[in-house]
Amino acid sequence: MSNYDAVTSEITEIRSTYIRDRFAFVPGTQLTRIIKELGATDDDLKKLASVSDGLKSDPTLPFRKTRTGRFGFDPRSMRVRRLEFQPFMLSMEDDFVRHDSGQVRIFDEIQNDLQLNTALQALFVFKFLVVEGVTVTHRPKLDYDSDQWICTLLNVRTITDGDLIGEPALEGVHSDGVDHTMTTYLGSENMTDDSAVTFLHDMREVNGTRWHDTNADLLRAKAQHRDFLDTCLIVDHESKHSVSTLYAADKSKPATRDLLAFLTRKPVAEGHHSHAFDSLKPHRELPMTVGLRLLDSAPST
Ligand SMILES: [Fe+2]
Repeated sequence: MSNYDAVTSEITEIRSTYIRDRFAFVPGTQLTRIIKELGATDDDLKKLASVSDGLKSDPTLPFRKTRTGRFGFDPRSMRVRRLEFQPFMLSMEDDFVRHDSGQVRIFDEIQNDLQLNTALQALFVFKFLVVEGVTVTHRPKLDYDSDQWICTLLNVRTITDGDLIGEPALEGVHSDGVDHTMTTYLGSENMTDDSAVTFLHDMREVNGTRWHDTNADLLRAKAQHRDFLDTCLIVDHESKHSVSTLYAADKSKPATRDLLAFLTRKPVAEGHHSHAFDSLKPHRELPMTVGLRLLDSAPST
């Protein structure tokens, strides 16, 4: 069996788990092997680990630094490409209850250091291989007749420093307002072993509940990103999630945690709060295009 065939069967396995459990955790060592076969170079894997050093600010959260970018997955041309800048909004209708719910947020834009990194590009290809064709519970006001996907990529650094407490998900129990969420861990400094655990909750869990106040009977799964490229995939409208606090091991120094979140959904339909922010036009100043692939024999959904 060639390396590529071996990796294809690993992805098929991950996809089957995702279809069965509506959730999958991929260890970073396995994902590193997979994305190297999908085009990630050793040099770019190294650069990806420190790309978050270039983050500057966040429009609403003092303990976070964030950049975002929109990417379109087009199964017709089998390409992913950078889409033009649009503001970002998550509302209570998305199961997102926070002080800035429904607020139009303008993030710094993801630059070429991240979008032209071959490891990042291979992560797009990997995500598409896992989720394309998977049947999910439909969200209201998304266009499921469209074959297009819109993926908002967030590069986030959460920081705990003295009185500033880093909450990877200040909103408590929530969903991301999309169809398929993928989170990929890039690294951390001075973080305790019990920090930033991700909990998956049944849809009956109450939005906004803090992670430590949730109902144990409604807990579906628990995972922790510890190693470079540890990755969670979640069918976003079939469970809710929360993330525990980022604690500093040495309290005299800052703690940081770096993550990529790939939030992927169908384009919105008329009447959706993001209808004005859902362009499929390419980004003129920061163009990027990468070829997608399909598994030869994807399991049926
Ligand atoms: Fe989330």
